[in-house]
Amino acid sequence: MSGGESASGPAIRVEHVTRTLQGEVPVTLVSDVSLQIERGEFVCVMGPSGSGKSSLLYLLGLLDVPTRGRVWIDGEDTSSFDDDRLTDFRLLRLGYVFQFHFLLAEFSALDNVSLPMRKLGRVSDEAARARAAELLDRFGLAGQHHKRPSQLSGGQRQRVAIARALANDPLVILADEPTGNLDSVASTNVRDILRNLTHEFDKTVVAVTHDANFASVADRRIGIVDGRIDMAWRPD
Ligand SMILES: Nc1ncnc2c1ncn2[C@@H]1O[C@H](COP(=O)(O)OP(=O)(O)O)[C@@H](O)[C@H]1O
Ligand SMILES: [Mg+2]
Repeated sequence: MSGGESASGPAIRVEHVTRTLQGEVPVTLVSDVSLQIERGEFVCVMGPSGSGKSSLLYLLGLLDVPTRGRVWIDGEDTSSFDDDRLTDFRLLRLGYVFQFHFLLAEFSALDNVSLPMRKLGRVSDEAARARAAELLDRFGLAGQHHKRPSQLSGGQRQRVAIARALANDPLVILADEPTGNLDSVASTNVRDILRNLTHEFDKTVVAVTHDANFASVADRRIGIVDGRIDMAWRPD
């Protein structure tokens, strides 16, 4: 699991990013956010419910497009990307972990993890399955390869989701409340796996969380209030 090809400069840079939903009454979800996230950093985004944390994460993950401002990932200005380039770039450079695992119910753990590699189409199906098996084993899921999501525990499902996020060896992992649905033992396990990705494999992790135990291991915590960075924000 080596890093990206161009190993210099920040992993993510956003400048004056704003996301407004147009309508009779326009709603601003994210307002003039500028920040830089270094390679290998583990950053937690925190703040009150409804403050725009998920909206910001979607912009960083190129799942949504800012109304104003720009997002650079791995030194590339993503504002110039067309849809095909965006799809490719997301598959190659970004991995996602959500609160709910979003694994495909009809697929085995192994097939769920293979899927991003098959979509990208750069390796044979055989190589994709071999790498998926290796990732699952690394996260303590040896012997679970052929189980469907419904046959796994919440913590196991989230570890499959992390393996899937790593499938194409991305630069950045974006996680939205990755422990929001887990008990404390599984939460600490998922926290330590994500933390370890930055230490051992130089991945960059940006995680939205309410979980103080999760955030306690972050290199940096960014507070978001009313769609803006608020460095004074502290959890209760
Ligand atoms: N598609 C949408 N249409 C209208 N309002 C939205 C939409 N998406 C999010 N919001 C609102 O924008 C605000 C920020 O949402 P979100 O980013 O999900 O916050 P958080 O993740 O911090 O809880 C919330 O008030 C939410 O209700
Ligand atoms: Mg949210």
